[in-house]
Amino acid sequence: MITQKCIDEIKMAARIEDVVSDFVPLKRAGASYKGVCPFHDDHSPSMHITPKLGIYHCFVCGAHGDSIKFLMEYQKISYPEALRYLAGKYNIAIEEEKKELTAEQEAAKNEREALLNVNAYAEKFFTNQLFESEEGRNIGLTYLRDKRGFKEETIRKFRLGYCPDTWDTFSKKAVADGYKPDDLLTLGLCRKSEKTGNLFDFYKGRVIFPILNAFGSAIGFGGRVMSQEAKGPKYYNSPENPIYHKSDVLYGFYFARRAIRERDNVYLVEGYTDVISMSEAGVENVVASSGTALTDGQIKLIKSQTNNITVLYDGDNAGIKASLRGINMLLAAGLNVKAVLLPDGEDPDSFAKGHRDSELKDYLEQNAVNIIQFEAKTLMQGAGNDPLKRAEVVNTIIETVAEVNDEVLRAFYVRECAELFQLSEESLQVNLKRALWKRMNTPSPSRVTNSPQQPVQQGQPMQQQLPNVVKPEEVPQTQQPPTDPLYDLEYNIIRLILKYGFFETNVRDVDADGQEVIRRMRVDQYVFNEFHAEEISFTNPLYQRFYQEYARLAQQFDSQDDLCKAFAQHDEEALQALAIPILTEQTPDCSPAWEQRFDMDTPRPDTDIECLNQEIAGCVNLFKMRLIDKCKELLIKELESEDLTEQEQRDIMMRIGELNERAKELGNLQRIVISSQY
Ligand code: UTP
Ligand code: MN
Repeated sequence: MITQKCIDEIKMAARIEDVVSDFVPLKRAGASYKGVCPFHDDHSPSMHITPKLGIYHCFVCGAHGDSIKFLMEYQKISYPEALRYLAGKYNIAIEEEKKELTAEQEAAKNEREALLNVNAYAEKFFTNQLFESEEGRNIGLTYLRDKRGFKEETIRKFRLGYCPDTWDTFSKKAVADGYKPDDLLTLGLCRKSEKTGNLFDFYKGRVIFPILNAFGSAIGFGGRVMSQEAKGPKYYNSPENPIYHKSDVLYGFYFARRAIRERDNVYLVEGYTDVISMSEAGVENVVASSGTALTDGQIKLIKSQTNNITVLYDGDNAGIKASLRGINMLLAAGLNVKAVLLPDGEDPDSFAKGHRDSELKDYLEQNAVNIIQFEAKTLMQGAGNDPLKRAEVVNTIIETVAEVNDEVLRAFYVRECAELFQLSEESLQVNLKRALWKRMNTPSPSRVTNSPQQPVQQGQPMQQQLPNVVKPEEVPQTQQPPTDPLYDLEYNIIRLILKYGFFETNVRDVDADGQEVIRRMRVDQYVFNEFHAEEISFTNPLYQRFYQEYARLAQQFDSQDDLCKAFAQHDEEALQALAIPILTEQTPDCSPAWEQRFDMDTPRPDTDIECLNQEIAGCVNLFKMRLIDKCKELLIKELESEDLTEQEQRDIMMRIGELNERAKELGNLQRIVISSQY
């Protein structure tokens, strides 16, 4: 681990214009620079470099970040690699800290390292056998090259190997070379004979497919039989062990990562040979789930590189229906899912072999359909004209649609489904509502737990009045629709404090004698005061995180510029990604067209204090009003519950009444704010 001090030093030294111009020619434009954006097919210079903030930002494709992010994206390297690059460029000595491990962690780490070592040894043994031994060349290599048609280059790339068809050639050699029998057994490379207690080779007489982790080390192996007559299953695979967790691994990921990022899509196939053949045919963004349904860990791996996945199905795959269930998991994870059905009798391996490279690519591109079309096509095959069966198919599809988190996308799919089946959208919406409801209520006990009712005093902080459900940290992300109207308001507040937090504004207040006075106060202070007084917080967890971090950083810096720079280069990717679009906003807060038309300076928050006042007070008030609305909604829902006592009902009614009062006050204030704006 590189020390934080060293990271800070590197960040201080790195000048964004310097770093970018090593790869992209830049032209000066006032205080900033412009260049052709390398992250999309750019024809005019759309990428802006802002040295003041230490960031790049493309106004067309939205790519943005600091020097480190630029290197990571452009060179497709990791965070530490980018740091090392910069350290080299600016002559900074890398300081590493050894993380203090507990004795237990140390032991586990040593065990993992030892096991990786054994696998590396085994991998080398197998490839050696394949290419150097007579048996390996005659049997293994002949099979892979001639029977399966893999190029030698491909065989070497995927580091395939061969295990001799003898009882214990590998076991004996490994032990003689000093490897521990226990480790060989743990890794599944060897088995122990019950009779004699001797080790024998697990992969005897098989071709070997090493399974690599994200760093390219062999963590497991698959071994395939070569003749149909051979006994046992087609593949033997490594057992679960301290370095091989099947559910976190995708076969081929190590080789595919770069292509997945570049194409922003991943093809998902079933088997080892599908990956290898497609990759050989030039479709390198391909991984295999190794014959089972995808797991959460594998989905995470995919999501680290792209949000788009295309699932390939064999033409004669009887298991399509079963695997459609796996698709719902992908949708629920927020991935955009497409599917391709291969022609009858073909799997990706055979199809890639039987067609020229461009034909494979064309076929995949032309036949990728969205998930609605795919389910309709495959499920309707068995349904014929039977209305009951057709209805069942429609319901299955609608259940799939319910997994999609994006509301707009859902609406689009419903329309598509309605057209496909000649049904009204309204009737499908009813089904969708039911499916959504079912989905929301299955995974977790998210029901309101009726807390003991407390009498509410006037002026009690707002969030305390909110029933338990709205506490942001308790709301799982998946259940919060991304288009929550509260989020827009919250975003606007964040935007204002990030841009104008240090600006002073006039705040209406009442002094001790009840006289209205105007106080000058920093914008961020004003927002903090309001939030504090009402005990409200952002409902969007990311915004809440921003708010906390802002509070911390605002104490460290004494200018808006420095604070903005800190956010633009923040270590937390999510905060950086939130801040940069705000800091590079080009659209002024009031439209320039307006200014031209009326030949006047429209008051703008950055030049006109009154305008800033209005905007910030308006936002905060509106946010409070919406919070109250939400409170009310929840209380009203509670009222509908049948097992309330009369007293409980009265209490709830009273609370609703108070919220109404409060909303009216805020509403009046809001009207003042709005009316004085024009
Ligand atoms: P397939 O039967 O489609 O194998 O199983 P394949 O990879 O296409 O191999 P070829 O083309 O017949 O040589 C798909 C995946 O299921 C797992 C393997 O990961 C395989 O790649 N599998 C299959 C096993 O683990 N064991 C088996 O016995 C069969
Ligand atoms: Mn196959």
